[in-house]
Amino acid sequence: MKITVIGTGYVGLITATCFAELGNHVIGVDVDVEKLKKLRNGESPIYEPGLTELLKKNIKEGRLTFTEDSKEAVKESSIIYIAVGTPQADDGSADLSYLVSAIKHFAPAIDHKVIIVNKSTVPVGTGNYVKQLLIEENISEDLFAVVSNPEFLKEGSAVNDFMYPERVVVGSDKKEAAEVIAKLYGPLTDKIIKTNILSAELIKYASNGFLATKISFINEISNICDKVGANVREVAYGMGLDTRIGGKFLNAGIGYGGSCFPKDTLALIDIADKLNYEFKILKKVVEVNHDQRKVYYAKIKKELGDLKGKKIAVWGLAFKDNTDDVRESPALDIIPWLLNDGAEVFAYDPIAQENAAVLLPESVNYVKDAYDTLNDADALLIITDWKEFRQVNLSEIKKRLKTPLIIDGRNMYSRDDMDENGLTYIGMGI
Ligand SMILES: NC(=O)c1ccc[n+]([C@@H]2O[C@H](COP(=O)([O-])OP(=O)(O)OC[C@H]3O[C@@H](n4cnc5c(N)ncnc54)[C@H](O)[C@@H]3O)[C@@H](O)[C@H]2O)c1
Repeated sequence: MKITVIGTGYVGLITATCFAELGNHVIGVDVDVEKLKKLRNGESPIYEPGLTELLKKNIKEGRLTFTEDSKEAVKESSIIYIAVGTPQADDGSADLSYLVSAIKHFAPAIDHKVIIVNKSTVPVGTGNYVKQLLIEENISEDLFAVVSNPEFLKEGSAVNDFMYPERVVVGSDKKEAAEVIAKLYGPLTDKIIKTNILSAELIKYASNGFLATKISFINEISNICDKVGANVREVAYGMGLDTRIGGKFLNAGIGYGGSCFPKDTLALIDIADKLNYEFKILKKVVEVNHDQRKVYYAKIKKELGDLKGKKIAVWGLAFKDNTDDVRESPALDIIPWLLNDGAEVFAYDPIAQENAAVLLPESVNYVKDAYDTLNDADALLIITDWKEFRQVNLSEIKKRLKTPLIIDGRNMYSRDDMDENGLTYIGMGI
């Protein structure tokens, strides 16, 4: 198939590259010319395991090209994927301005039959809004079909998630269009769920809302564990063996961040609000998530007291492991709080330092080696659960820290190991 993918960010670039890998001819479109320059050279603008190899291979084999000219791309394609950002607007709703501008821009090039597929996470009803927009742009309804095909990939394992999906959701009011899009995924899975557009759009928000709920739920359980002396790891394990609950997303810690859960929970609350329905649980989920960062910070203050002049080592700036994405990362709250309270911060992240430096105050000191944050520090804070932090040399940590204190927002270590190495270990409900 000839496919155009509008937007080459985390989702669009994976979609474009993986569809090319499956043998389709794909044109990636973006408005960011710097990004396009990199992409044409086979360089990935984002860190995503396995992506660069696929990118280079498919460019070389002529199945993947990049352009800023969406009209030219659309002229050559029968399927147009939209994967632009839908960030949070000031009132919590999803900002559709990128989507609207992308559609208005390429619409005049629709002079042949096309399927317009929304991969961006968009409020329920956006598919119908897209139809309306195209009609307003004088595009005949006979020329286009709209499909909702939300994305469920996780940053850090995005290529794998795309290539081995647990399910694919295809929502459309036109059966033929749904068949064409379902067929694209044929080589990947037979778990293709066909729905109407509204259901497909809601499946995405409902899924993220539910996962966020699971996280906030276990975080509240961890706060209770702290009070009663139970261990949330044991509690979560015991809960998760019940297949009705499942063990995933029951890792207590500092709360969720990233480019999806924070904005998607707020957007779902907004969708409900606009229907005069108060989504009470989800409102609390958001509140609990915010508070969890404060719960973590309170532990720091409890251990260290006045932070003025204290030297703090911070491991992890990305919102999760295996990504350079720092959007809504807990580090973006915690570090400014530390600085405001007069602490000196030495930070390390294997991949996300550059992105974090754009958003954090200039006074943060970045170091190239995790252990170099520790020299003479009053505490080590773990903010991101990078795998490389799991296999650390605890005696080296003890040797370098001024105070042998680790405050772990991700519950990465065993207390026995800490005790053996003479380190004071504070976790979240453990
Ligand atoms: N990142 C994730 O893990 C993830 C997972 C599932 C779904 N989503 C959803 O997918 C969508 C995209 O997310 P993302 O993380 O890839 O965003 P992103 O910010 O990484 O990428 C968006 C890209 O779109 C480009 N763009 C903006 N306006 C454009 C236009 N008019 N024409 C062409 N390109 C344009 C931007 O320059 C950028 O490169 C969002 O709706 C998001 O909620 C994201």
